[in-house]
Amino acid sequence: MSSAAELKQNDNLFIHPWDDMAKIGKHERTLLDRGEGVYVYDSDGNRLLDAPAGMWCVNVGHGRQEIAQAVYDQIMALTYVSPWSMTTGPAAEFAAQLAELSPGDLNHVFFATGGSTAVDSALRFAHFYNNMRGMPNKKHIISQKRGYHGSTYLGGSVSGKERDKSNLHFETELVHHIDAPHPLHKPAGISDADFLDHCVANLENMIAEVGAENCAIFVAEPILASGGVIVPPAGYHQRCLEVCRNNDMLYLSDEVVTAFGRLGHCFASEDVFGIVPDIITTAKGLTSGYIPMGAFLVSDRLIDEIKQKGGDTAVFSNGFTYSGHPVAAAAGIKNLEIMQREKLFEQARDTGPYLQQQMQTLRDIPIVRDVRGMGLMACVECELIQGKDDLAMDYEIGNLIDKHCQKLGLIVRPIINMCVMSPPLTITREQIDDMVSMLRQGILLALEEIENAEATSTGADSRHPSPAA
Ligand SMILES: Cc1ncc(COP(=O)(O)O)c(C=O)c1O
Repeated sequence: MSSAAELKQNDNLFIHPWDDMAKIGKHERTLLDRGEGVYVYDSDGNRLLDAPAGMWCVNVGHGRQEIAQAVYDQIMALTYVSPWSMTTGPAAEFAAQLAELSPGDLNHVFFATGGSTAVDSALRFAHFYNNMRGMPNKKHIISQKRGYHGSTYLGGSVSGKERDKSNLHFETELVHHIDAPHPLHKPAGISDADFLDHCVANLENMIAEVGAENCAIFVAEPILASGGVIVPPAGYHQRCLEVCRNNDMLYLSDEVVTAFGRLGHCFASEDVFGIVPDIITTAKGLTSGYIPMGAFLVSDRLIDEIKQKGGDTAVFSNGFTYSGHPVAAAAGIKNLEIMQREKLFEQARDTGPYLQQQMQTLRDIPIVRDVRGMGLMACVECELIQGKDDLAMDYEIGNLIDKHCQKLGLIVRPIINMCVMSPPLTITREQIDDMVSMLRQGILLALEEIENAEATSTGADSRHPSPAA
């Protein structure tokens, strides 16, 4: 086996997600080689609290022997069969479990390989649905700025994070973005009710512009996760669902992050936000990241309508070699069993509000612009100069916080200037205290480093007041 130094060098041959090509050959990424519970360990043996749970995914925590055993057993029993014409026990069983747990009549499951392929397949299903209904023009998709829905061509196109949009090509004919319902951007002096009306009107106006007869589906995350944990105003999703119903549009709730306990429930759409959408996409916590898998769940109503109207040609010609992979399904079944047996959703309903309360204590740090979240999803957004939208500066502060937190024993991996906390559901109150305390110190040390550098280069006073101790 190569040494850690060799592996770090060889890693430069691995093109990572969002890799900066200019840095290829010079990357020195942290090499992790072990995980247990809420902690991972780097190649020097340092223990790090995994605040993002990998990428919002390791919901049952690292190192679950039971899942490893279930995966092993399934590989030895049967590694793989083609899902085109045959099935396996785990795939069928897992579909039935998900149908049972999903809201309303979302009783059919399409298995994908991750979140992007789940979203992409769900959007293609919406197109298929309207084709079968004899409405081939009804194809346009409305989604949100700051939303993230994946990295397939269509998933990337419906994503709305402007800072990701500059270097690639996207589908722009069929896809339209409305403003994210971001309470931080509520204009001064308007009431919460008026702000909600304004956010809903954005959807109505876009439908009017595109023409309801052309609009197929609205896509929204219950909470915009990678956009920076944006919690929409209360009632937003219900009102948007009503708008969709009034315009014969489908509603896709992208629960790739919010499902499987992050908000204290298996699915958040109905239990937290009071909606039964037409389609839910999910991934990540579906298998707690042990094996890649994604899925979309779809309403019986749509399936019935396709059956009635599609006639003999209702073939949904979309799918993957690994749709319903038995090993992934076996991991998913065991993952769900652990979540239910250990009452992890209930635990998250207790620790979630505690996490939010502790995160709010960071507000006294001068560069902290906002702290927000819900359940076990939280975000602290930092800005060096208030109101200045400067990408380089935002990267600088995020990278420094990341560096200092990691030295202190905390993984934050900021989304530019936003540190997102989404720990395993197993996290305890004591571990939350520890996490928030390291985060505070990390932000303060980053600030101190910037101020020292500024003072050295200009000899001028710092632009921020001294942080509270
Ligand atoms: C809401 C949402 N949808 C879709 C995706 C894409 O999932 P994946 O990276 O598994 O393809 C993500 C990934 O972060 C996500 O957060």
